[in-house]
Amino acid sequence: MTTFTFSTGRPTDLAVDVLVLPVFEGPEAGPGVKDVRGLDLLGMYGATGAKGKRGESLLVPNTGVKGLAAKAVLLLGVGKRDDADADACRRAIGRVAGQLARRKSVATTLPQVVPGRGAADPFQATVEGLLLGSYRFERYKSKANGAKLGKVTLVGTPKADAKAAREAIRRGQVIAESQTWARDLVNTPALDLPPAELAKAAQAMAREVGLTCKVWTDAELKKGGFGGIIGVGQGSIRPPRMIELRYAGGGKGAPIALTGKGIAFDSGGLSIKDSTGMEWMKSDMGGAASILGTMRAIALLKPKVNVIAAIPSAENMPSGSAIRPGDVLRHRGGTTSEVLNTDAEGRLVLADALAYLAEKKPRVIIDTATLTGACMVALGDDLWGAMGNDRDLIRDVLVAGQEAGEPGWELPMHEPYRRLIDSEIADIKNIGKRYGGAITAAMFLREFVGDTPWVHLDIAGPAFHDKAGDYGPKGATGSPVRALVRYVLDQA
Ligand code: BES
Ligand code: ZN
Ligand code: MN
Repeated sequence: MTTFTFSTGRPTDLAVDVLVLPVFEGPEAGPGVKDVRGLDLLGMYGATGAKGKRGESLLVPNTGVKGLAAKAVLLLGVGKRDDADADACRRAIGRVAGQLARRKSVATTLPQVVPGRGAADPFQATVEGLLLGSYRFERYKSKANGAKLGKVTLVGTPKADAKAAREAIRRGQVIAESQTWARDLVNTPALDLPPAELAKAAQAMAREVGLTCKVWTDAELKKGGFGGIIGVGQGSIRPPRMIELRYAGGGKGAPIALTGKGIAFDSGGLSIKDSTGMEWMKSDMGGAASILGTMRAIALLKPKVNVIAAIPSAENMPSGSAIRPGDVLRHRGGTTSEVLNTDAEGRLVLADALAYLAEKKPRVIIDTATLTGACMVALGDDLWGAMGNDRDLIRDVLVAGQEAGEPGWELPMHEPYRRLIDSEIADIKNIGKRYGGAITAAMFLREFVGDTPWVHLDIAGPAFHDKAGDYGPKGATGSPVRALVRYVLDQA
């Protein structure tokens, strides 16, 4: 168990394995560096050629320096002093978090690099960077490394608001642990995580944190008219599910509604993908995982709001029982869609969940989905694309993403494109043309929300990374759990 404590003591008095002290670009001493007397820390750091750029670090062993209780000091570059914000803390400590996880006790003055209190809290971000950056997925390693952060002390100035700092630390821990929990789900191979297993994981989580959970079976979905979820799932011998979660913290108020794409594996179905296109399609339930992680964090942080989630999960496989190009599905609520490409399956399962959530008269609906390659082409793999029917809601999620260090960018709902999903024989069809694919996908979803304020986050890029980042190894990112939690907390 990793434990975090807040302290306003002198950093040099802390008897820890490693004391992490920030260095600004220059290099220039950050908080605590000059408190270490009898050791020219900054000189040593500069002598290695390090300039204080983010993540540039130097470990200096304590060979009996008077007045320094730590066994070693890790000098950590955080970049330019003027750019030192919460995200800089998250990224800088994230870079060395893996190495710190091998020590029993760590202390750092890092949050002190952020002057004053901004919108994003440096204590929260530092905790997030440590937990996210030291995350490893080792379930399938016969020789797991097992390194886990031990005791961490975050050192504030004597003037720091201790109560606010302790709350920020707790928030950071809950959110980061929820995000790594989501990462585990996404990294788990599809073989071991069919819809029913995803539902079981959700149920176990709900029991642990105190959420209400109902899992809809395939028989119940059929009876309830969820033709999209049933249709996409019927090619697999592993039947679909829908996970419904409720958090009640806001009395009688209308809930915030959440949903996420939970495709256990996306082979493309009969419109089959090629082998490289399938390589990472175990991650096609990244939207679902992000919503489950968000619900977990909300249950633990207890904001004064109500939240409902309905998460559709199916496996998209080709087989004798699979849906065919040209088939028409009837969604929850009665809207029909012509399936011209079985690889545009995410919108088919989300349609049912969105229609179901809209029936609950929520104040807003937010969905996350690894929906289109087109969105990755447009925005790369850091940014999610936001599309919706309500300016205020779009703005609020963009702001939340910015403040949580999980930014997105809005793509336009350019109305002339709507006709691209007109169908000859059904209400709509499930593909437009190649260009503008992220937008026509969002327009398909919009058909199912009625006049409920809604925003869709296309997370095909940020859900899964093909190389390691500042605070995570290659693979699942668990994004955008932080952005979503931030949004919900902001509504309380
Ligand atoms: N799950 C994919 C989108 C995707 C692709 C996510 C690559 C992450 C990485 C989605 O179901 C899909 O196949 N979309 C198609 C839609 C097309 C057939 C209209 C796409 O983007 O090519
Ligand atoms: Zn998909
Ligand atoms: Mn697909």
